[in-house]
Amino acid sequence: MQARIRAIRWEAEGILSFILEPVGGGLMPSFDPGAHIDVQLAPGLTRSYSLANDPANRTHYEIGVHLSPESRGGSRHIHERWRAGDIVEISEPKNNFPLVEDAVHTVLIAGGIGITPMLPMIARLNRLGRSWELHYVAATPSRAAYVDHVAEYDGVTVAFDGVPGGQRLDLQAISRNAPADAHLYCCGPSGMLDAFVAINSERPQGHVHIEYFSAETVVATEGGYTLELARSGKTIAVEEGETMLDALLTAGIDIGFACGEGVCGTCEVKVIEGLPDHRDHFLTDADKAANRSIMVCCSGSKSSRLVLDI
Ligand code: FES
Repeated sequence: MQARIRAIRWEAEGILSFILEPVGGGLMPSFDPGAHIDVQLAPGLTRSYSLANDPANRTHYEIGVHLSPESRGGSRHIHERWRAGDIVEISEPKNNFPLVEDAVHTVLIAGGIGITPMLPMIARLNRLGRSWELHYVAATPSRAAYVDHVAEYDGVTVAFDGVPGGQRLDLQAISRNAPADAHLYCCGPSGMLDAFVAINSERPQGHVHIEYFSAETVVATEGGYTLELARSGKTIAVEEGETMLDALLTAGIDIGFACGEGVCGTCEVKVIEGLPDHRDHFLTDADKAANRSIMVCCSGSKSSRLVLDI
């Protein structure tokens, strides 16, 4: 769908927010807290951004975009080229990070721009009168977006880990203090998420929720295997130096993808036969062990032949 950039706002050093509205008036499609949209920036360049506004307000979507120094083109393109009034291509909202709305207590943990999906969660939890707390860490006060949105609430702690004498969040203590049946959510850099998952590994299944906004993914480019596409009957060789996605696109297979690093789930394809070499951060360990699907943007194959349901 298309949306118009109604406004661009400076939120913090390196972080701009974009207000997107329907081109022809009316309302945006509804979404639930934790949802994201894919933004089409150029042919072959799509990125996912969490929706940051209150889902009760459907006049617009808001996304916060951090200009990453390591940008592979996504955030740089947006910061340098997007102007108020431009029409941009976005997807309908998708949600890989849904909020359990009837939890006895909700613990939200955000690192940097990982604060964005927490904002609609807070809006929804407040509307429902639920108990929640937020722990937000940013490098410095000048790089902490949306602090004003959250500072007014009780149960919010903000930490800065890039200033002299600054501190990281004490994830152990946060977990220790959370009720046994609480639901915990974390969005931030991959190191923070890995620590969060490890610390909370004893909690009940389904009570620990994570959302990557980027990851240090070691993309499989070893090649040396063949893809058989069950529906189209095509056979495609994946050569050394290319990803499975590269090979599929080169062969003219129309396949949706966004992040390119195994975090958004857009490129998931069902596996019929063969042994995937999972490199993504999207599937759970149980999903990976089951080998029923694969993220073709970053994963490879341990078997010489992989049969996909496309
Ligand atoms: S494109 Fe995001 S997981 Fe593959």
